[in-house]
Amino acid sequence: MKHLNLKQILIPAVIVLSAACKQEIKEEYTMKREIFGEINGKKVELISMTNNEGNTIKLTNYGATLVWLEVPDKDGNKENITFGYETLEAYLRGDPYFGSVVGRYANRIAGGKFTLDGVEYELAINNPPNTLHGGPGGWHSVVWDIEIIEKEGEEPSVKFTYISPDMEEGYPGEVEAEAVYTWTDENELVIEYKCSTDKKTVLNITNHAYFNLHGAGNGDILDHELMIAAGKFTPVDENLIPTGELRPVEGTPFDFTTPHIIGDRIEADYEQLRLGLGYDHNFVLDNKSEPDAVVYEPESGRVIEMNTDQPGVQFYCGNFLNGLEKGHGGKIYEYRSGLCLETQHFPDSPNKPEFPTTVLEPGKPFTSKTVYKFSVK
Ligand code: GAL
Repeated sequence: MKHLNLKQILIPAVIVLSAACKQEIKEEYTMKREIFGEINGKKVELISMTNNEGNTIKLTNYGATLVWLEVPDKDGNKENITFGYETLEAYLRGDPYFGSVVGRYANRIAGGKFTLDGVEYELAINNPPNTLHGGPGGWHSVVWDIEIIEKEGEEPSVKFTYISPDMEEGYPGEVEAEAVYTWTDENELVIEYKCSTDKKTVLNITNHAYFNLHGAGNGDILDHELMIAAGKFTPVDENLIPTGELRPVEGTPFDFTTPHIIGDRIEADYEQLRLGLGYDHNFVLDNKSEPDAVVYEPESGRVIEMNTDQPGVQFYCGNFLNGLEKGHGGKIYEYRSGLCLETQHFPDSPNKPEFPTTVLEPGKPFTSKTVYKFSVK
């Protein structure tokens, strides 16, 4: 077990005097690396990072996964608010997407097929009749390499890298993927991606973290309030494939341009809610102002502010959760007990030339950045 006090020398413990002259000791930023297990001879680690506010996230290189994220409520009570498991074995048996990076193509590709430069590529069908989140052996299920990036006077980052071989899961081109996580003293989870290829291919990469601001496993998310700065969304067919339409949200239960309680309209008589079994749709971000999305839960007072440079976000509210998954502390992840804001390109873009392109070309790496900032009000 390695224990790094990265800022020990740079940033000594800070004593903050509040207006009431009460003393609070700010904790030092720490990082801890432990062995989580082994897969095919490759070490899997659990990396814990505690920022100067004393708030901890945990990551593993299995699937470049966010395992744990603990932040206080408005009374200062800390709780883990993201879905995860306590052991690597549980990750192998359980829901493959809790907190993981999904790729090479996040969300669905219709019929598991696409054509690039006149060549048709066939992918494994793992969500009949479609390919979901890269395929059965997607990037959520591989062991990534780890590099710790230390920056003077700044929080450290964990850089996960994975070389996805040519034709892996049926996709052309060897892709070098990087997912870099930084957990700041301002309680921001910053995720940066960089992917390059040696042959033309398609790419859509995101993180699939589920959040519940009451704490993971503490009831549903229907009482959470949500804002998404998206004037349009992409309606789907019965197989959850976008029809190609960019539909204005105005006057529909998909209008989150001003904050709405998620449960208020989820059972509305609206075809897209029936097809999606609730909210499970790509929102076309306006990308005009910040933030792109805000989640607020009044009881705990916890807030997530999300910002991204991606054109879309999949708002999924756990419609496929069925109470069979037990996570941290044996807590059960019930139906609609977690929500995801998966920043992305639009689903099935390889078959929708009218959507922003997801083609990745040699010499033109893809980069993107998403920030989830946690606070209380
Ligand atoms: C989401 C997707 C859902 C479901 C989920 C995994 O990204 O939108 O339809 O497949 O992943 O259970």
